[in-house]
Amino acid sequence: MLMNLTQKILHSHLAKPSDMVPGEEIFLKVDQTLTHDINAVMTYLAFEAIGLDRTQVETSVSYLDHNLLYLDNKTPDDHIYLQTVAERYGVYVSRPGNGICHAVQVARFGVPGKLCMGGDSHTPHGGSIGMLCIGVGGMDVATAMTGVPMRLKMPKIVKVNLTGHLKPGCNAKEVILEMLRRVGIKGGLGKVFEYVGPGAATLTVNERATITNMGAEMGATTSIFPADGQVKTFLKAQHREEDYVELLPDEGCSYDEEMELDLSSLEPLCACPHQPDNVIPLKDVEKKKVQQVFIGSCTNASYSDIAKAALVFQGRHVNENVSCTCGISSRQIYVQLMRDGYLEMLINAGVRLLELACGPCCAIGQSPATNGVAVRTSNRNFKGRAGNPTAEIYLVNPENAAATAIVGTFATAEEVMGADLERLAQVKEPEEYPIEDSMIIRPLSEEEAKKVEVVRGPNIKPLPVPEAPTQHLKAPISLKTVDNITTDDITPASAEFSSMRSNIPLMSQYCYHRYDPTFAARAKEMGQSIIIGGENYGQGSSREHAAINPMYLGVKAVIAKSIARIHKGNLLNHGIIPMVFADPADYDRLDMEDVLEIDGLLDQMQAREVEIADVTKGFTFKARLELSDSELEVISCGGQLRYLKKQLEESRK
Ligand code: F3S
Repeated sequence: MLMNLTQKILHSHLAKPSDMVPGEEIFLKVDQTLTHDINAVMTYLAFEAIGLDRTQVETSVSYLDHNLLYLDNKTPDDHIYLQTVAERYGVYVSRPGNGICHAVQVARFGVPGKLCMGGDSHTPHGGSIGMLCIGVGGMDVATAMTGVPMRLKMPKIVKVNLTGHLKPGCNAKEVILEMLRRVGIKGGLGKVFEYVGPGAATLTVNERATITNMGAEMGATTSIFPADGQVKTFLKAQHREEDYVELLPDEGCSYDEEMELDLSSLEPLCACPHQPDNVIPLKDVEKKKVQQVFIGSCTNASYSDIAKAALVFQGRHVNENVSCTCGISSRQIYVQLMRDGYLEMLINAGVRLLELACGPCCAIGQSPATNGVAVRTSNRNFKGRAGNPTAEIYLVNPENAAATAIVGTFATAEEVMGADLERLAQVKEPEEYPIEDSMIIRPLSEEEAKKVEVVRGPNIKPLPVPEAPTQHLKAPISLKTVDNITTDDITPASAEFSSMRSNIPLMSQYCYHRYDPTFAARAKEMGQSIIIGGENYGQGSSREHAAINPMYLGVKAVIAKSIARIHKGNLLNHGIIPMVFADPADYDRLDMEDVLEIDGLLDQMQAREVEIADVTKGFTFKARLELSDSELEVISCGGQLRYLKKQLEESRK
């Protein structure tokens, strides 16, 4: 049978035979896992609670890369826990200062054809080298580490045929922004985007990574490019040529959907506040004064991204009203940029170099001023994502971000450089990166690992485990939200809040803090409650705290018009029943504090349709559970940890 690239990788990882029909559940053997510091404490607490001695996948890596601002003891305590727990269970550690997880994973661990599950929604970054990489919740990563096959709804596979080539001043950012403009933030749900064609062959691994990384913003399961000559060149430059295997779609294979995109037709684009699909040509953005520019993040801080931005800055200076910072993606890129003189260009221009970390991308430092206009090369522009809900975030490519920093209002590199723009086309990725892995701690032998003492600071509290649902549920509505609620709305980003993620009793007090600061106290007071959501509830980051905190506050179910994929998995994992309205019009009939009642909940769940009475207003409506058999079992057990323990106990009998 002729197969496309995605089918090939999924097929080679099937743990149970399957015809791989879109929408059906498949079970997959996982090769690699990755976690990062602001989501991972819960993952490793769960792995410890499961009781295995060592990670069961080929390669597990724990990155300490997001929160490097040590405001008090909490984050350094977390980092010490994460390092020691990794050493105890056979997990690699990428130490603070080594770089952002996705960039380092592709460069140092990525292998074409492998399957990676990562506790971060931008894990699809690794699709740039022909690896299938899926973002999941932290509990799912803990599950993958046990070697238990991962469940996945077989996605539809979309062929994106790229033709032409990018013009100077356009970057892979324009490709993904154009995709977002066409497809929208929900258009990728249940889909894998497979980029092929002559245009794809012109894109380097780092350009491909910008595209696969931000595929998460379309809600896609993942995105992938073939493992071809570009991947071979990249792995050779990483001194890992032996890891290269060619992996292409079969000629004549079929896809569920097809799209065409001519790279030559692209012009500089911009995603305007407050959603990444709000994309218009950069020249059409109102020429407001820009307060802040941030060049960095896993999406656009590769060697060529920063080198091109530096060339725009060369001989020019950051506008006196703009604060311009730059966060480079990894240590090897930093060293190479330094050797090639690009860092000097940035420093001479007045750009402030940051730590090698996510930093401003997730509001860990560099929040914009009140009502500030922030221009960023990162991947999300949700309200409050930068740490200040009054700010407006615009997403552009690094060349145009540099031009904007110089002019002080929205500008393109072409406007600043004129005919010199052609110089940007001369920038090439290095033929050999300065490889130096001393900031990666390799796993200990099994014997040595057993001797490691796991160090837990006072901020690290036990993982709360929910109770299984009961037949009768009567609970008021503690919150009714609008459409497109993000996990940033539910669990705010910032250094302060991120450092609370190991302490659910503390962090839950700030649940929905920026959206509705009264929610946490109200939910707690209610004892148990239900949240009503609009479309695409829980989009954005994979952070499972957006499920754990409401669970801790007594939320038993979310009933929404639709629920984003990763968040739905997190709700299940943490014992909150995810339901969708059978008739979305019922959303309008419900109000906060209405008391809802479900009789025979467990029996009705089996039929995947539940009748709910609004006791306050005296009417009934129906909600569906769009769950597979195994997902239903998970939620019936009271979440993934209880389910997994039950499964492991049964397998030992
Ligand atoms: Fe970090 Fe932002 Fe990427 S938080 S992993 S740089 S999306």
